[in-house]
Amino acid sequence: MLIKNPRGWELPDSAATPESLFLNRRTLVKALAAGPMLASLPLGLEAALAADPPDPTAVLYPVKRNDKYKVDRDLTTEKAAGSWNNFYEFLAQAGDITDRAAKLPVRPWEVAITGMVEKPTKIAFDDLIKQMPLEERVYRHRCVEAWSMTVPWSGFPLKALVDFAKPLGSAKYVTMVTFLDKDIAPTQRQFFAGYPWPYTDGLTMEEATNELAFIATGVYGKPIAKQHGAPLRLAAPWKYGFKSVKSIVEFRFTDQRPTTFWETLAPREYGFWANVNPQVDHPRWSQADERLLGGNLRRATLLYNGYAEFVAPLYASMPQNRTLFM
Ligand code: MTE
Repeated sequence: MLIKNPRGWELPDSAATPESLFLNRRTLVKALAAGPMLASLPLGLEAALAADPPDPTAVLYPVKRNDKYKVDRDLTTEKAAGSWNNFYEFLAQAGDITDRAAKLPVRPWEVAITGMVEKPTKIAFDDLIKQMPLEERVYRHRCVEAWSMTVPWSGFPLKALVDFAKPLGSAKYVTMVTFLDKDIAPTQRQFFAGYPWPYTDGLTMEEATNELAFIATGVYGKPIAKQHGAPLRLAAPWKYGFKSVKSIVEFRFTDQRPTTFWETLAPREYGFWANVNPQVDHPRWSQADERLLGGNLRRATLLYNGYAEFVAPLYASMPQNRTLFM
């Protein structure tokens, strides 16, 4: 967002594994008798193959769409949504990170429930998802950098996970934490190593249990692509996109408002609330409108990204000043 990418560590295109090889990876995994043949594969492909065993949750998709959440826009194409992503662990600017994110191993994946809960626990993602009520929701997504998309997420309400976690009555916030792995995420070990990794953000308990707060485990009728934050990420569509933490490893319940990744780096630009409001500009650009991914069309940005009927009451008693919308 505010940072310049030195690009010093980026792979030249010629060194990246071609997309077609990644697309065929599952077929290859099945076909290969692993050991001896892997040894003769190019390095990048070998790493990707080793990182990604078959996904036992794939059979769960597609899931039934919940038509309650209507949007007035066409769906963004899967290609457009999946080739312009913001995932600073892999690239310190928005862009096509498909090949970089492919190196994130998502199995096994443990989710920790910590802090102010009846019983802190860890659970394998593949076991957690079996206990959650899956559905599909078409949501808008508005990045603070003024681009937007409309995508069919699959997953479950964050409230279902909160119920599973059994927070104490005194918990006021839930912090969501992304993985920390310097071997996987180049930015965590290189120029941006001093950033406050792991990436974190949070919601109040009222926000987290609002019906809109959603944990996405799939998109476009399939398990969620790694560049979107596999195997599970938040989708809080009334807030700027940086609130929607990707590749979550921990849900931490607390009575202290968390200081989040972006708030730590640039508190005058990225606050805790980050509710979308076209009338409150970012200090360096307008928030009045947004570019729809997949072309150059622009549309007016809406208050709470069009979700005011669901969430405006959450903030009705708070001062309606800039801090609520940055
Ligand atoms: N989560 C992590 N861990 N790291 C990130 O850099 N970027 C955020 C959010 N979640 C980010 C993240 C931002 S700024 C946006 S706009 C959305 O992810 C982008 O989601 P998408 O790439 O699926 O469109």
